[in-house]
Amino acid sequence: KSNILTDTFGRKHNYLRISLTERCNLRCTYCMPADGIQLSPKDHLMTYEEIYTIAKEFVNMGVTKIRLTGGEPLIRKDAALIMEKLSSLPVQLTLTTNGVIVDKFIDHFKKCDIKTLNVSLDSLDTQKNKEITRRSYFEKVYQNIILLVKEGFQVKVNCVLMKGFNDDEVIDFINLSKNLPVHVRFIEFMPFDGNQWNMERLVSLQEILSKVHSNFEKNVIVKLYDAPNDTTKSYQIKGYQGTFAIISSVTNPFCDGCNRIRLTANGQIKNCLFSSKESDLLTKLRAGESIIPIIQNAVQTKFKVRNGMDTLEKFNQSDMHSNNRSMIAIGG
Ligand code: GTP
Ligand code: 5AD
Ligand code: SF4
Repeated sequence: KSNILTDTFGRKHNYLRISLTERCNLRCTYCMPADGIQLSPKDHLMTYEEIYTIAKEFVNMGVTKIRLTGGEPLIRKDAALIMEKLSSLPVQLTLTTNGVIVDKFIDHFKKCDIKTLNVSLDSLDTQKNKEITRRSYFEKVYQNIILLVKEGFQVKVNCVLMKGFNDDEVIDFINLSKNLPVHVRFIEFMPFDGNQWNMERLVSLQEILSKVHSNFEKNVIVKLYDAPNDTTKSYQIKGYQGTFAIISSVTNPFCDGCNRIRLTANGQIKNCLFSSKESDLLTKLRAGESIIPIIQNAVQTKFKVRNGMDTLEKFNQSDMHSNNRSMIAIGG
């Protein structure tokens, strides 16, 4: 069982991302189309027992880290129960959330031994936040980030940059890390179904770094160590409590160190964020058949880089994005 999660390039997939729901209490433009998505019928979604069964199987095969995603994972009615069940497994359990209702889960996170959370926040300006999320929760999310920090959680703040929209906030976001020990991460805007991506709207790693260099003296910008499986290139401004990083999936992919495998809320395996081909685990599980061959096949057919879009040119021209789901239904 130990080799099932190792792909043909020798990458060990020990990090499982499970999407709990396709729904969300926000409507971020980069994540979902304005008119929403076609939701999976309810009986096509994994129950909490099924999630646990599948997760346990993955843990037996070598998974050591599970991240819950969505949609917004915390709006699922049995989110607390799922966290509790999964926390009984020998894994590092964590989640990516929009932060709107995390305050209601503080004690539960502690009970489930959740120590880190990634929270999405794309603008520090109330109005712009409303524009991007199509909802008005900026204050709430901001206060919740501060609350999480105060309660001792390690918080990463995810900020998707879009040209002409929030790229003027790079320095403000870095300054957020001055007195608050958070890890701010600037994410290159990525294409998914219905999110109106184009290369011109992307703010690249290089552009972000050049903003940093034109605002801070060279000797205060410290490059930090990144683990081989990290998505990030991390930095710190000398003397700041927190840090910042860049996730450059488009201009500088980090697929060599990829250790991620994804499970969608409707029980499909995705071997890459950009793979439109999915493997149906849930149907097999419900039929009482072994899911191991499906997992093995998904891992074995994984491409070296971005589902085959290995150059920027191929990535830009690919129509694969429109065959792929919206981010809200993948889980990031
Ligand atoms: P850590 O586990 O803390 O390293 O977080 P993460 O970066 O894996 O997860 P998160 O859910 O916070 O995602 C942040 C951004 O990174 C999102 O835009 C994700 O889509 C992107 N991301 C996460 N994993 C991958 C990946 O394997 N490949 C690519 N291309 N992007 C990823
Ligand atoms: N490009 C880059 N990141 C995205 N996310 C959602 N959609 C996109 C996109 N199109 C991020 C969210 C969240 C994480 C799971 O994925 O901001 O923090
Ligand atoms: Fe892994 Fe695909 Fe992301 Fe590359 S693009 S790091 S292969 S999930």
